[in-house]
Amino acid sequence: MPKTALITGASSGLGAEFARQLAAQGYDLVLTARRLPRLEALAQELQAQFSISAQVLPADLSTREGMERLEECIAHLPTLDLLVNNAGFGTNGPFVDVERSAHDAMLQVHITAAVRLTHAALPGMLARGQGGIINVASVAGILPIRSELYGSTKAFLIIFSQAVQSQLRGREVHIQALCPGFTVTEFHETPAFAGFDRRQIPRWLWLDASQVVRDSLQALPRRAVVYIPGGQYRLIALLARLPLAGAITRFVGDHFFANDHPRAKEIV
Ligand SMILES: NC(=O)c1ccc[n+]([C@@H]2O[C@H](COP(=O)([O-])OP(=O)(O)OC[C@H]3O[C@@H](n4cnc5c(N)ncnc54)[C@H](OP(=O)(O)O)[C@@H]3O)[C@@H](O)[C@H]2O)c1
Repeated sequence: MPKTALITGASSGLGAEFARQLAAQGYDLVLTARRLPRLEALAQELQAQFSISAQVLPADLSTREGMERLEECIAHLPTLDLLVNNAGFGTNGPFVDVERSAHDAMLQVHITAAVRLTHAALPGMLARGQGGIINVASVAGILPIRSELYGSTKAFLIIFSQAVQSQLRGREVHIQALCPGFTVTEFHETPAFAGFDRRQIPRWLWLDASQVVRDSLQALPRRAVVYIPGGQYRLIALLARLPLAGAITRFVGDHFFANDHPRAKEIV
């Protein structure tokens, strides 16, 4: 039986890239996000290019109905070998200035949906004795620059992934908290980031989405739960753990993340 992967946030960016690379490896796919035409176009492209099947399932993960639709889908799949909890978005501006509805949606999409889908997927993986779950977090969940909700939800995903993996010792089920830094996707093209210019961030800090996904998939069975793609970010994360972490992080934030865009340091 071919392997199957379910990818949330598959309509663009890292999610679409996971779909492309997993299709190339022969995975059948379940692609989900809100923008159905994008999902359908991607499914058609991948089915034409590779001999796989790709099912599309529109779902808004900030709603209970959206989460239940995916849970039901997982319950009826003959097999689920890889779950990629990737859907996510950023807000811009100080915590108090962001609409409460955006905070509510972020908690649902980043935390509740990831927890519920993990809970739905794990029993089948454990019964089959194999599987993987990638929770797309962020370096913003590692560095002490969590002044808005985004970094805090990503920190949750990291700790949650570590906690679940600790209960799976000796099993061939692998959990990864993927922690990218700035990555070229549509993340910074939403209305929340109107006026954001990629050039405000030094070029060496931008990661390529296909490389992030390739590294993540390679690392999943072999590496520690928390995976940081890109040597530059691994170094920054290492420096942040040193005793002078606060000062170093502030230095990096002020020099590389702030520039003309004072909130840029909060939106990785
Ligand atoms: N790009 C970066 O710099 C960066 C850095 C670190 C971590 N990340 C994380 O990487 C993940 C993927 O983001 P990306 O960079 O690939 O950005 P992206 O291109 O904007 O993709 C985000 C995906 O999430 C989906 N999504 C957003 N809200 C949703 C909702 N309510 N229900 C269902 N799906 C929803 C979007 O689909 P629809 O709009 O069609 O629903 C889209 O497919 C996110 O978790 C993000 O936090 C990104």
